[in-house]
Amino acid sequence: MTIRPRRSVLYMPGANQRALEKARTLPADALILDLEDAVAPDAKPQARDNVCAAVASQAYGSRELVIRVNALETPWGAADMFAAAAAEPDAILIPKVSRPGDIISAAKVLKAAGAADKTRLWAMVETPMSILNAREIAATAVDPENRLTCLVLGTNDLLKESRARMTGDRFAVVPWLALSVLAARSYGLDVLDGVYNDFKDEAGFREECEHGRTLGMDGKTLIHPSQIEPCNEIFSPTAEEVAWSGKIIAAFAEPENQKKGVITVEGRMVERLHLVMAKRTVTIAEAVAEMGLSEAAAGRS
Ligand code: COA
Ligand code: MG
Repeated sequence: MTIRPRRSVLYMPGANQRALEKARTLPADALILDLEDAVAPDAKPQARDNVCAAVASQAYGSRELVIRVNALETPWGAADMFAAAAAEPDAILIPKVSRPGDIISAAKVLKAAGAADKTRLWAMVETPMSILNAREIAATAVDPENRLTCLVLGTNDLLKESRARMTGDRFAVVPWLALSVLAARSYGLDVLDGVYNDFKDEAGFREECEHGRTLGMDGKTLIHPSQIEPCNEIFSPTAEEVAWSGKIIAAFAEPENQKKGVITVEGRMVERLHLVMAKRTVTIAEAVAEMGLSEAAAGRS
């Protein structure tokens, strides 16, 4: 799978034309244009038209564009899938995935709709059953026909369905997050943390970003533009991490180390697994820098 930064992933209601326009200039790595929970039933067809026109407009630069459809078993699901496939987003996010069959069915619909190869599937992990089946859901990625590349935690739905309580340390939620990270890593997927509802509380939000990063999340889903910059900062490799990764890569490239499995760098044991991690860190840092440059260039033109 190609490595690309997915630090900040902003949801916006598909019925909110103003938000769709504003998103063209927001520094989020990815945008989830929502047709599902953030759109009232009466507004669904209009939202579908807005979102598909926005994606087809190609006005979002390097931002990854994701359409969240309604579940296939709802009255809007099939029409959403066909319209989304025709708009050629980078991915379609399937809500309330509970079983591997939910991904397999979605992939079949995309195939029937003639979706472009580039359009991948992302899966919401937001039901108790999705947690229990996280491994099997992630395992559908073994078959490339299924297009699965990313798991997205839906913590609001998980709290509702489980009747657990949200606390500052996310005591009840941590096992679900950790299990989702393991399921994703077992099958080479990315995984994104759930949203932080109290969008005026920047200190609390930063703390939750750090918490997600510690758990292994690749990034966080967001609800408000003010959350993008702190999120990008926390999920970017730090200058120290990039510098240390550079030292590991350089050390293994020395002629005397090229065949060694373990070496010492600045007094610390470094194994080849650290080299893999170092290369990933540098690739992400370079991609982040590249995005910064292309945004700056777009701003100048
Ligand atoms: N995406 C893009 N732009 C957004 C945005 C979003 N998610 N949320 C707010 N904005 C824009 C507003 O349009 C406004 O732009 P303007 O000042 O240029 O007109 C600006 O940011 C400030 O918005 P603000 O007044 O602070 O927020 P609000 O009261 O209008 O909206 C929410 C608050 C929570 C309703 C809104 O942020 C939202 O809809 N978030 C996404 C919800 C969602 O998609 N949920 C589903 C998944 S959990
Ligand atoms: Mg949900």
